[in-house]
Amino acid sequence: MVESLLGKRMACVLALAAAPLFAQSGDAAKGKAVVESSGCLRCHRIGENGSRTGPNLSEIGDKRSAEQLKTSITDPDAEVLAENRFVAVTLKDGSVVRGRILNHDAMSVQLIDGKQNLRSFLTANIRGYTILTKGLMPKPNLTDEQVADVVAYLSTLKGTEAP
Ligand code: HEC
Repeated sequence: MVESLLGKRMACVLALAAAPLFAQSGDAAKGKAVVESSGCLRCHRIGENGSRTGPNLSEIGDKRSAEQLKTSITDPDAEVLAENRFVAVTLKDGSVVRGRILNHDAMSVQLIDGKQNLRSFLTANIRGYTILTKGLMPKPNLTDEQVADVVAYLSTLKGTEAP
């Protein structure tokens, strides 16, 4: 029993390791190096590294197709997914706070600001807010080959398997 479970897990690990070789034309190892040297981690979190100000990419390979990943890199403004909502909140005192929405309900709004601080505001203190859909992610300056490598790398990010 234990052995067959172990066998299954090994097969799964092997399948994961082999997937990028066959499923993608890009080179995942090169893509990882591009991501680490292109400033992506200034905004994105991958595993234990990077920033929380932008969407977490740790499991992005599970959520998006290679095609979607490619578009989000080559044309970041094309589509901002609802779960990546960024807002500019104007408070009653006139100050404006920008950030990525984590949660909101009738009473309050929680967001993560550009300095990775968790901010919470009572709706009673908010004068208004604007949903930001453009200019959130700069278009990276990458060659087609580098984009293919990055897509191959991101496709391998499936988070950690639950034990
Ligand atoms: C200045 C911050 C910033 C940098 C630098 C940045 N991104 Fe982004 N990225 C964002 C934000 C904000 C979003 C969500 C809004 C959007 O989709 O445009 C996003 C969205 C994405 C998405 C889509 C996420 C999803 O849920 O589908 C991918 C993939 C991505 N970025 C990859 C990259 C890669 C690869 C790099 C480096 C070459 C990079 N980003 C650099 C801020 C950044």
